[in-house]
Amino acid sequence: MVKDYRVKNLDLASQGKESIYLAEMRMPTLLRIRKRFEEEKPLDDVRIGACLHVTRETAVLLRTLRAGGASVALCGSNPLSTQDDVAAALVEEGFNVYAWRGNDDEYYACIQSVLQLNPAILIDDGADLIVTAHREWENLLKKGFGAQEETTTGVTRLRIMDKEDALKTPVIAVNDAKIKMMFDNRYGTGQGVVSVIKAMNVLFAGKVVVVAGYGWCSKGLAMRARGLGAEVIVTEVDPFKALEAVMDGYRVLPMSQAIEEADMIFTSTGCRDVVAAEHFRKMKDGTILANLGHFNVEVAVDALEQMAEKKRRVREDVDEYTLPNGNRLYLIAEGRLANLVTLGGHPSEIMDLSFSVQALTAEYLTKNHGTLENKVYEVSEAISQDVARVKLETMNIQIDSLTRQQLNYVRSFKVGT
Ligand code: ADE
Repeated sequence: MVKDYRVKNLDLASQGKESIYLAEMRMPTLLRIRKRFEEEKPLDDVRIGACLHVTRETAVLLRTLRAGGASVALCGSNPLSTQDDVAAALVEEGFNVYAWRGNDDEYYACIQSVLQLNPAILIDDGADLIVTAHREWENLLKKGFGAQEETTTGVTRLRIMDKEDALKTPVIAVNDAKIKMMFDNRYGTGQGVVSVIKAMNVLFAGKVVVVAGYGWCSKGLAMRARGLGAEVIVTEVDPFKALEAVMDGYRVLPMSQAIEEADMIFTSTGCRDVVAAEHFRKMKDGTILANLGHFNVEVAVDALEQMAEKKRRVREDVDEYTLPNGNRLYLIAEGRLANLVTLGGHPSEIMDLSFSVQALTAEYLTKNHGTLENKVYEVSEAISQDVARVKLETMNIQIDSLTRQQLNYVRSFKVGT
């Protein structure tokens, strides 16, 4: 790849390198994959275009892909999540990076810069890169190996394309791998309740926290809010998940009722207008709103902007909106992914799992792309198991294995009462 980049400030590179160093020591699974990649070079000469949150953990993934022989270009998958020091460090290491914090206007221009480099594999978080390639880069998709998607929202978009026969490349749903969804979504996003502590330093104990939805991310948010002493109310549209929340001991209410009691509201549903104009009017003075879903559509920020009589920035990443009834609402990170913006994203230990799956999936696509059709594929169970096994090893945790008699027993239908 010809050297090219657009980042905020290359002088931040040494700070970025320290940050990556600290992440790397908490990502031993990915480092083990990197070691094998260095020896085997499974991605020799493969061009990879990535649209990911530009964080220190993403840097560790990029180094690993390069160790496997790939060249990688990177743009941001959210206008506010780029760590400018990490972007600078990556440029200094020779990666083509197109990202800076606050890139609202040229977000898609940066995606185009990545696609111009002819990547054979697209690694995406939210599907903006893959969807843009489908609109304007059909030839690139025809020649390429395939794409891999990191997040629930992106997989949802790609499954719709698959259903409508619109996919022009094989896609691997990295998000849906058990080892990703059950850990990254639950414990990574779940720990994102801390974004409100970082932004506002409020006490959770004794507060009423409303969590919208009860998918893996919301389950984590509810669990962690409860762990901090809050009373948690869950809202749902799916009867099965609502029942699960009830049996897990949460109160379940429609949003219009829950909102009246809320001190804090967390959204992570993948849907739009989960908190909408009619809800803002019913909120108490001081209610805090934090979104942890991929796009900034879950809290209807436009409606809030229109309704509010006054808006002012009161702290870093916190806007205060005063409504005509005098109540003040506090929106974290402009309604964008609150944990990415305020905390730097999921901790490295979590991204160790998710990005190990990404690295192994790139290897899988390189080896197997000739046999794949243009549809959405699951990650193989073997990859999930493998990553879990290595992670346990790196944590020095041993587990049992079945004896021969036990194996025979669980594989046979013959022994009954
Ligand atoms: N998504 C959530 N947390 C992340 C992180 N730390 N790095 C990259 N992508 C993420």
